[in-house]
This record gives sequence, structure tokens and C-alpha cells, in this order.
Amino acid sequence: GARAINTGIALDFDSLPGSKTDAVVVPAGYTASVLAPWGTPLNDNASAWKPDGSNTASDQLNSVGMHHDGMHFFAIAGRSDDGILVINNEYIDQDALHPSGATSDASGKRPADEVRKEINAHGVSAVRITRVDGQWRVSERDPLNRRFTTATVMALSGPMAETDHVKTAFSKDGTLARGTNNNCGNGYTPWGTYLTCEENWPDVFVNRAATLPADQQRIDIPTDETRFGWETAAGDSSEENGEFARFDLTPRGASASDDYRNEANTFGYIVEIDPFDASQRAVKRTALGRFRHEGCWPGKVEAGKPVVFYTGHDARFEYIYKFVSNANWEPADAEPADRLAIGAKYMDDGTLYVARFNDDGSGEWLALTPSAPTRGGSTLGEELGELPEIILNTAHAADLVGATPMDRPEWGTVDPINGDVYMTLTNNDERGPEELNAANPRPTNVNGQIIRWRENDGQDGFRWNIFVFGADAKAMAEINRSGLTPANQFASPDGLAFDNRGILWIQTDNGGNAVAKDTNNQMLAVVPANLGAQNGRPGVIDAESQSQLKRFLVGPNDSEVTGFAATPDNTSIFINIQHPGNWPYSDDASEAVPQGTQVRPRASTVVIQKTDGGPIGV
Ligand code: FEO
Ligand code: CA
Ligand code: CA
Ligand code: CA
Repeated sequence: GARAINTGIALDFDSLPGSKTDAVVVPAGYTASVLAPWGTPLNDNASAWKPDGSNTASDQLNSVGMHHDGMHFFAIAGRSDDGILVINNEYIDQDALHPSGATSDASGKRPADEVRKEINAHGVSAVRITRVDGQWRVSERDPLNRRFTTATVMALSGPMAETDHVKTAFSKDGTLARGTNNNCGNGYTPWGTYLTCEENWPDVFVNRAATLPADQQRIDIPTDETRFGWETAAGDSSEENGEFARFDLTPRGASASDDYRNEANTFGYIVEIDPFDASQRAVKRTALGRFRHEGCWPGKVEAGKPVVFYTGHDARFEYIYKFVSNANWEPADAEPADRLAIGAKYMDDGTLYVARFNDDGSGEWLALTPSAPTRGGSTLGEELGELPEIILNTAHAADLVGATPMDRPEWGTVDPINGDVYMTLTNNDERGPEELNAANPRPTNVNGQIIRWRENDGQDGFRWNIFVFGADAKAMAEINRSGLTPANQFASPDGLAFDNRGILWIQTDNGGNAVAKDTNNQMLAVVPANLGAQNGRPGVIDAESQSQLKRFLVGPNDSEVTGFAATPDNTSIFINIQHPGNWPYSDDASEAVPQGTQVRPRASTVVIQKTDGGPIGV
């Protein structure tokens, strides 16, 4: 029989039923409060948020951005009532952002002020928050409050920096980039910095050239139009700036310093932010690869061993990656004087690998270096060039070495107890019956699964299994392989995070399938260490153990539940409600909008506490 291998943490709440309301639902004994919604002023340069959409581009630059996603709580001096919440603002809802949606003139050109507001609603918001008498509040004038937008100047670091690939009219020496975009999942480092990850950035660009560079073809840079038409607006069109023209990559000059052909080469990276020092630029860490990065998660650090980061490419049939530092971890680096110098030490020099999942439960990390062998018998160097050329087209390098195409890798997280790595594979409705393998075993996979692996000694390989399969509770056993019931059925797992106690929180971004008929998006919890041991590891969720997976929260209609952060003592946890349809109604996230009323929807962080002030979930 099953044998628990870790005790001390037991979930102590009843799994919630599904919900389809305009409210956040949490178990009895808990509160859910709205914190730092879109438009919250961060300094005196912003007017208060206006419910008619009339705030200016400048207001938006100085306020919390839109469509919150990944985030992290950086405690001040280890406290659980004072910290910096750093929040990704992934994308925008133009209908909510402007008084009456996006506009353009008769020739299709967008107004510059609207475009500036849209650019300023993207990126990252750093927000000082404090808890007084049990209530969390934003400190609206704190010097650590900060915005990063699609126009903020950032440093380029690592192998791509100063190469011809990233020399632009704006940065002729290839040391700077402008902006970060479509920041989806996130990460953090063992030295106290935040990582924000550039996911669907290709869609703000267009290239109308007859033939696109190979990397732009591989990553799907649009050839007809951009997502929001920013490049049509008349902004500061000086050659060095090209405020909006830079989103059109079509070559028009004699060289890269005459136009914006290289602008997209400065996107697609992991970006490091020091939340404790507002004087420091954000830094793009190019050694971790260039693709549609969902997020970036550190492995468990050990003195004298390399520092490891896991990252995934969220698109159908894309890959899971691992970066391994050349430098070995020194515990003194956990409290450095210069955090970004430590970032350079562990994130600019190292080796990027991509995962192959073999059907026998073994796995291999395939190096993406010039000397790495390809499946065709050549080397990556012979096929692509030196390391910068490999990074520029990371996904194609991964194709060449024979990585396993996955069912859309979204978030990862590392078990703080045993170092096991978990990653959501959200869905892949295009996987055909001939394309199945043990790691991606269901055709037309509309439900998704969570895969898990444990590194072998030496970092060159791993053992993996599927932790849980998403499914509709009514589906046949071949689909509902984990025996889910109405109390815990879920589909399209996306956000994923272990807290420091070993509770695994699973969030969903689902729509349109059988599970969505029964419930809005949700957050579930499980303690893997409490599942029966199998071969020395915690067990997977199966028909015997499925009741240990419990639904803790359900989001409002039309929203996705994403982002996870916790105070060090776990008495407050923070989640984000992204793209709600008719929410929030008040500061109480669990108060539904009255029937017949429509509010201007605002993505928001929600802070969850127990009414008795105790730790969450137990
Ligand atoms: Fe922005 Fe892959 O979710
Ligand atoms: Ca999202
Ligand atoms: Ca996501
Ligand atoms: Ca998603």
C-alpha cells in the first residue's frame, strides 16, 4: 500500500464545488480582497483610476499596468506585513483601457496617445504593499514603486549583447533594448531579484519583406499586421527613436543602423529586475535563450553546485529548457551588495539545454552549443554558427538536436523538499494520433497534464513521470487517467507554484471544453509529499489518491486565475485575476456584481487571508 513519506502538512479545507459567477470563491473561514487593480496610482504623477476609461497615457505610465499575470512577493527584512509585490502585466483589453475601445482614422492609423497608453499598460509593476490591522494596502507614493513598459530602456547582457544582431538605430553598440512585452509567467532568483519572461512578443511586430530571416519564420513574426497596429501611429519618428515605427521590422535602409530590422532581436528573453533598488535598469539575460518564454524557475541551490533555471516555450509542440551556470553557488551570494552583478555571475555564463523525454521514463538534456551534435550528424555550429546565432533561433537549434515537442509548456516549479521539478503542459488540440508519446499521450489534448522530473546526479539526465492528467470528471478512463471527480476536475493547467511548505498550487486557464461548462477557472492544492511513495518518490495522482487534490478557489466569469505569491509565514497568499468580464464590484473580491449591472473590468491581485489570521490551506 501507499506510504506517506512526509507529514506535518495536511490540507484542512473542503474542496469547493465548481462556480460560474462574477465573484472569487474561497473556502469558509477565508477572505479574498482586491489589491493593486489595474490603474492604481504609484506616485503623484498619476490621477486616480477613472471608471470611464479616460485616464491618460501618462497616468498609465505611473499606475499599475493591465492584465496581471506572474508575480512574486519580496519581503522587506523578512517581514510578512511589508514587502514589494512585483506583478507582470501581460497584455491589454483595449475595450476596457479606452473610453470606447481602440480607434483609428480613415486610413487605419492609430492615435499616438492611445498607442502610448497601450504600451504603458504592458510590462511590469513593482508595488510596495503593507498590512495594517489585517488589511493590505498599496503605498501609493513609495520610492520602490516602479513601472517597466514596452518602452522602458533596459540593458542587454550575455552572449547576444554587443553582437550585430542587436545593434539598432537606438543602440548602435547593441547594449540597450527598449521595453519588455507580453510578460507572462515569472521567476525569482536565490539572490533576491525578480525574473519577468517575454512570451507573445512576436505579435507586436510585423515584417513585410519578401523573405523573413530564419529565426523570424520559426517564431512566427507576423507578415501582414501587428496585434494592435502600434506601428501605424505617428510618434517621435526621428531615426534614433522611431517610437512606433520600430515595430515594423521591414528593412528600408542600407543597414541595421538605418532602420528597425533588428528591433525584434532585443525581445524574447528572461529579464532580471532588482526590486530593492529603483536606480537599476532591468537586464535582459540572453544566455537563457530566445523564444516565447512562459516563465523561469530556479532549481534548489546547493553550495558548490551550478545554479539551474528551468524555462518553457508556450506554443504547441515546443520545448522545455534548462540553463546551467558555469559558476558554482556560493551561499554568501544570497545577500549580495550588488544583486545584478550576482545575476551576471550566474545567468550570463553557462550552458542552455533542451529536454528529450524518452518513453521509458528516462530523459536527457541536450546541449545547445556550437559543438553539440544534431540528429543529422552535423553540429549546431555547422548548421547555425556561434552561440549568438544559436540563441537567436533557439527553437530551431532545439529542433535540430531532437528535443521532444510538448503539449504547450507553461509554468514550472520546484519542490522545496526534494528538488523535483513540475511543469504544466496546458493543452494541445493539434496533437494527432501519430504524434503521441509517453509524455504527451493523449490526442487532441484539450485538458493538459502536469509532468514531473528528478535530475540524475551530474545534471545530464533525469527520470520523469506524469503527476496528474487534467480531465472532465465524466470522461472515459482513457481520458480521465487520474480519476478526477466533480470536486477536483480541471483542465488547461497553467500557473503552478510550490509554497515554502511543500503545498503545490495549480491554476487553470481553460475555456470552451467540458470542464468549462461546470466551472470557471480555479486554483487547486495538493501536497505531493503526502501521496503514497513509489520507488522512493512521492506518488502521482491516481484513482486511489485523487481526493488529496482539492479545489481552493474559483475565479469570476471569463477570467483566468494566474500568478502566485505568499508571505514568508504563509498567512497571506496573492493570486491574480486576469481578463475578468464583469468584476470586481468592490474591495471584497468575493462580492458579485448585482444582476443587470456591468462594471469596467479590472484585472487585479487578490489577497487571501484566514479570518483567524492563521496560515493558508492548513
Ligand atoms: Fe501567457 Fe502561456 O500564457
Ligand atoms: Ca494569460
Ligand atoms: Ca500562462
Ligand atoms: Ca495559458
